[in-house]
Amino acid sequence: MRIGVLTGGGDCPGLNPVIRAIVRAALPYGDEVVGIRNGWAGLVNNLPPMELNLTTVTGILHRGGTILGTSRTNPYKDREALSNLKKNWKGLNLDALVAIGGEDTLGVATKLSAEGFPVVGVPKTIDNDLSGTDYTFGFDTAVNVVMEAIDRLHTTAESHHRIMVVEVMGRHAGWIALHAGLAGGADMILIPEFSVTMDEIIGTIQKRHARGKSFSIVVVAEGAQIKGWDLILKTQKKDAFGHVLLGGISHSLGKEIEKRTGFETRVTELGHIQRGGSPTAFDRVLGTRFGVKAVELVKQKKFGHMVALSGAQIISVKIADATRKLKVVDKEFYKLASKFFG
Ligand code: F6P
Repeated sequence: MRIGVLTGGGDCPGLNPVIRAIVRAALPYGDEVVGIRNGWAGLVNNLPPMELNLTTVTGILHRGGTILGTSRTNPYKDREALSNLKKNWKGLNLDALVAIGGEDTLGVATKLSAEGFPVVGVPKTIDNDLSGTDYTFGFDTAVNVVMEAIDRLHTTAESHHRIMVVEVMGRHAGWIALHAGLAGGADMILIPEFSVTMDEIIGTIQKRHARGKSFSIVVVAEGAQIKGWDLILKTQKKDAFGHVLLGGISHSLGKEIEKRTGFETRVTELGHIQRGGSPTAFDRVLGTRFGVKAVELVKQKKFGHMVALSGAQIISVKIADATRKLKVVDKEFYKLASKFFG
């Protein structure tokens, strides 16, 4: 078989382990693996594919990012792009394509699969907001990066008796904020799923200070909902999938906290640091298991399916089911976390 592989959407640690695993699992069958560069853009623009073999995938297990490159390309936005993609796909003589991506890339995969293209999906995103799988790779690395940042901010916050506001990624889902905030002992966590009032935030900080604490750490997801506030955007521009680029809520929040509490406040926006660098052991192993399973699905011609983690098992689910609705934080989990606020 001739198997194509592409990585689409925002990059994340663990993509290279998946690519390596696909190659290592496919070669013993005598299959050929080719890498499509820059996500769906590689097919739309007919970029020369990258040969994937033992030589080209050696030494990439521990490397962040993706050797194939990525992009946020939505071929369904433009009729000509879509027809080029289909024509170029046929020209590559692929028997199957493994698409590694989040809701957007796999959303395109769902549509192509419905049109009869042989696609298998692999879920990735640091946001962990894809349905159908317990975890996506990249998430554990991002959570650990944020936890380490919180630990570092903790010591300086304590020394200076300051409030530290830490902004993390997550436009619709607060998984990173919640996990890293819990692991780092944050005193308040604000996420997109559950809105809070400014009075509640101030009250929580004041209550904590009233019991003798002289510093606080507030973790805020970029898409957090503060009642009466608009989402804070980096630019007015939308990406090809219609998403706005968020970022900057921590600055307004920090100013408001300082003004209303009188406590000196500092802000850290972690940004793309959360997405870069080496994957954790968990993400390397999950990526490796996903890659091997993706090849199994290709061999079984289980197209239109995506590999997924369910408990400790790697299973397959329909891509269409996984992309129908985002997986967001449930009330119970947020309630548990809020026991540690203040
Ligand atoms: O990959 C998802 C994500 O990490 C979001 O949490 C974030 O809002 C977005 O990517 C930012 O992506 P970019 O800067 O690459 O457009």
